Order: sequence, then structure tokens, then C-alpha cells
Amino acid sequence: MVLALALTAELNGVTDLLPNDTEDNPFFYTFKVQCTSCREIHPNWVTEQNEISGSRGEANFVWRCKSCKREQSANIKEKPKAYPHSDAAKKQNILEFDCRGLEFVEFKPDGEWTAKGLESGTKFTGIELHEGDWFDYDEKASEEVSITDMKWEIRRA
Ligand SMILES: *[C@@H]1O[C@H](CO)[C@@H](O)[C@H](O)[C@H]1NC(C)=O
Ligand SMILES: [Zn+2]
Repeated sequence: MVLALALTAELNGVTDLLPNDTEDNPFFYTFKVQCTSCREIHPNWVTEQNEISGSRGEANFVWRCKSCKREQSANIKEKPKAYPHSDAAKKQNILEFDCRGLEFVEFKPDGEWTAKGLESGTKFTGIELHEGDWFDYDEKASEEVSITDMKWEIRRA
């Protein structure tokens, strides 16, 4: 089953919100996992790394359900997509993954994100979203920038 992580957010003065996910500096995507056999939701958050550039075809997330003991796996399909600025917040898929025997049911935006100034092109790095809204100041544009009203959703791709 192919699932997608979708985001809806208000980007003010910035665009192209993206996980900082490179070969040298991989991003760990944090999810809650549900077993599709016994419907058990694993109580702990699990992390998955994107290994597109490495061993192709190999599952990059393998897990065994504690209740029914079945083995399950998930694969991130491609590089994450940048979330663009728009006047009205639009839902967009950031990431797609192929899940076998499990579903990701909740996402936690841990890790560092990047974005750039809408007009100025100023680079913002080290953006943290796990506590919710993000605020900063764009020196070049002399204006406050922010990312607010984030809604994360996992849906069928
Ligand atoms: C990603 O993070 C690394 C390490 O903090 C940093 O050196 C790099 O500039 C960041 N990349 C982007 C595109 O922001
Ligand atoms: Zn199970």
C-alpha cells in the first residue's frame, strides 16, 4: 500500500519548506506504526531514514509486531517534495512510502527543516517544527517570516 505524508500549513514570507535530508546529513522521519494484521498500534515512535541513493529495493524500515509477531516493512519511494508558499494553505504530499503489513498512522516533525525567503531567497536552515509554529526574521526582506497552522496527515497516495 502506498501512503503519503501530506502537509497543510501557512507559510508567511517563506517558501519551499523541506526536510534537510541529504546523503551526508540524513533526515529521520518519525512515525507511529499500526499493524495491518492485528491492528495493534505500537506505543513508541519509530524513525525511518531515506536510503534512495543506497541499496535500491531494500526495505529501509523493518519491524516486527510485538503482538502477532509478523514482520513488516516500509520504504520511502523518492526524495521529499518541497512545500510551496501559496495565498491559501493547500494540502500537499511531502513524502510517499510503500508499506507492507503496516501503516504509518501519525507523523512527528522531528529533525531540521529548510526553507527560503519568498522574495529575498534568504536561506533558512535548522528550522524546528516539532513544537509547532516557527517564527524568524528575514534581514534581506526586513520582515518577519513564519510557518503556522501545520496539519500533518497520512493518506493513501
Ligand atoms: C542541512 O544541515 C546541515 C547540518 O546541520 C547543514 O550543514 C546544511 O547546510 C543543511 N542544508 C541545508 C540545505 O539547509
Ligand atoms: Zn500485529
